[in-house]
Amino acid sequence: MKKKLIAGNWKMNGSLAANEALVKGLLAGLGSPACQVALCVPSVYLAQCQALVAGSAIGLGAQDLSQHEAGAFTGEISGAMLQEFSVRYCIVGHSERRQYHFETDALVAAKVQRALACGITPIVCVGETLAEREAGKTEEVVKRQLAAVIHVNGHCISEVVVAYEPVWAIGTGKTASTEQAQQVHALLRQQLQAASNQADRIQIIYGGSMNAANAAQLLAQPDIDGGLVGGAALKVSDFLSIIASAC
Ligand code: PGA
Repeated sequence: MKKKLIAGNWKMNGSLAANEALVKGLLAGLGSPACQVALCVPSVYLAQCQALVAGSAIGLGAQDLSQHEAGAFTGEISGAMLQEFSVRYCIVGHSERRQYHFETDALVAAKVQRALACGITPIVCVGETLAEREAGKTEEVVKRQLAAVIHVNGHCISEVVVAYEPVWAIGTGKTASTEQAQQVHALLRQQLQAASNQADRIQIIYGGSMNAANAAQLLAQPDIDGGLVGGAALKVSDFLSIIASAC
């Protein structure tokens, strides 16, 4: 059976001291989880976190990578560099990158391709804004975002993780209802099925104010295969409780 994936997205949070306390706290309470667990940390902390999670059930993740292999791209980080720090996952096309760094569907697709070429599992984010949902465009938007990724990576699309993150639910405390989330996950599953005969094994995870109180209900939906967790991933007890709901 497909395992669930709970990935923490630390965003631009943390410090050497806070990271150590958080990861040590998680490791102390984790045991041998029946689901997959990942921490997507700021790049400057990859070396620290690589050492902290070494030999544990926690997989290391990054939050972005360059679409280029190497060269004159000041400030960018390549997939090959991430590989050197045992990075297994990389968030790609998070709505904050799409919004604040003007990442387009085509750029996101190219980054997914780079991650796959480096043996890193991309966690590809799709999701509609509040205005798009209110205009009845949710389906159109998420399908367009995923289609761009499938167009470039169709042959290996079963290697990606898809994260449905309604933008209006991120960091707002407003979670999509289980029905709203399941409906979009089922749509995305259908789209993946049309592109790959292995779509059933693709993890489609939900993100947007997932917390200790709502995780179990979301994770019980047939097409919700895990969570991408922001705020609640910064607290040991909350994150452990979400992991327990998934296992
Ligand atoms: P949130 O963030 O859980 O704080 O809403 C999720 C995300 O942006 O990945």
